[in-house]
Amino acid sequence: MQAQGTMAMSVLVQPTGYHSASWLHPDTNADSSTDIDWYRRVIQTAERGCFDLFFIADTPAARTTNLEAYSRFPMFMNVFEPVTLLSALAGATRHIGLGGTVSTSFTEPYNVARMFASLDHLSRGRAAWNVVTSANDFAARNFGLDKLPPHGDRYERAREFVDVVKQLWDTWEDGAFIRDRAQGLIFDVTKQHPVDHQGRHFTVRGALNIERAPQGHPVIIQAGASDTGKDFAASVAEVVFSSNSTLESARAFTQDLKARMARFGRDPDQLKVCAGKPVMIAESRQEAEDMFRTLQEMMHPKVGLMRLGMDLETDLSDLPLDEPVPEHRIPRNSNMHKAYFDHIAHLIRVEKLTLRQLYQRYQRGHETFCGTARDVADHLEEWFTGGACDGFMMLFNLLPTGIETFVDQVVPELQRRGLMKTAYAGRTLRENLGLTRPENRHVVEARRAAQ
Ligand SMILES: Cc1cc2nc3c(=O)[nH]c(=O)nc-3n(C[C@H](O)[C@H](O)[C@H](O)COP(=O)(O)O)c2cc1C
Repeated sequence: MQAQGTMAMSVLVQPTGYHSASWLHPDTNADSSTDIDWYRRVIQTAERGCFDLFFIADTPAARTTNLEAYSRFPMFMNVFEPVTLLSALAGATRHIGLGGTVSTSFTEPYNVARMFASLDHLSRGRAAWNVVTSANDFAARNFGLDKLPPHGDRYERAREFVDVVKQLWDTWEDGAFIRDRAQGLIFDVTKQHPVDHQGRHFTVRGALNIERAPQGHPVIIQAGASDTGKDFAASVAEVVFSSNSTLESARAFTQDLKARMARFGRDPDQLKVCAGKPVMIAESRQEAEDMFRTLQEMMHPKVGLMRLGMDLETDLSDLPLDEPVPEHRIPRNSNMHKAYFDHIAHLIRVEKLTLRQLYQRYQRGHETFCGTARDVADHLEEWFTGGACDGFMMLFNLLPTGIETFVDQVVPELQRRGLMKTAYAGRTLRENLGLTRPENRHVVEARRAAQ
């Protein structure tokens, strides 16, 4: 079980690091994106630091337009499929949770239920699925669509999708595979419960062809920022990645999310909010700030404008770099990442930044915290004890150096303060996070019927 009062600690891993210019930095390996040894080194470092969860984000598409910019910022252009990668990493680790993104907009529940049940068995109970509805049209075009369905429709499909996946995870009771050689029976026929689902988006009549997962259900992660997204998270998520730049806004987000859980009959302790936290650690605060500024300046203007355009959902590349961005260029509504959109709109409206200042300031929903190891420990402690979150989703601008410094210098400090565990107490990710193992719904129903 997660020790009382300790942080849930996760890390988002992108090849070379979280920063868009990280691949240009001499401390990184530009060829790490398809190098399994590189991933092994990073995950083993995270496990040495008692991280609960290693997380791989994803979108199922390489960009095919704006290649002038993408050839300078290789995000998702050359990456492993997450579940395949996590399966390989399961064999290189023993304790750390393995989380990956699979979109509900471009898959069927059966595929996802089967993949994550398999990963949970491969890792002996360490799998977690990040449920996303996806937020780019490049992915839509790989699956027979011109563009993404509207936000509300995507979430409606996601709700039904997760419901069907959970039903599939319950198609076998625990212990259904008795492997009784004396009787000649491999499974107990009374312990199979096929799904009979007919909904608006999916019709599924059948059972999963793998026994119930060690965790019962692999852990469900979500990161919705919109009202619909938060309701969805409150109804199903067990880990949520939040993206707020101040302690106050993070606390308001966490309180809002946990308050919504009551409507779905859920206990707020059964959801761990991990605040996204980019950090830059050095011997002095000044050095850390300089390192971060250097990275921001390494970003090519085409990349800066493309990142702004992507999240503001409009093209700003016709505007002069050194003049303020006119307010009328902000679109009326966001259909993709609402939190990112609102942040850029705020910087344009309130801070009146020039285009160059805007792309050098904009950090995709989070502010990088720059400081010494002790400063970082103080900052994380302040957020955690201040009720901003249950733990963190660490975002290291440069990898593997960022996580190596964190594990060598920040983790021992947090452990000394009793804020991080010093060993894995549980066998599964659920146990390490303090999440209850879901009972099979058919067993619960049978028990109720017998009462
Ligand atoms: C830490 C973090 C990781 C995320 N990972 C992914 C991802 O891998 N794939 C993806 O399509 N969206 C990802 N998202 C985006 C969310 O799923 C979601 O679309 C976004 O927060 C906007 O929320 P909304 O759809 O409710 O407006 C991530 C968000 C955060 C904060």
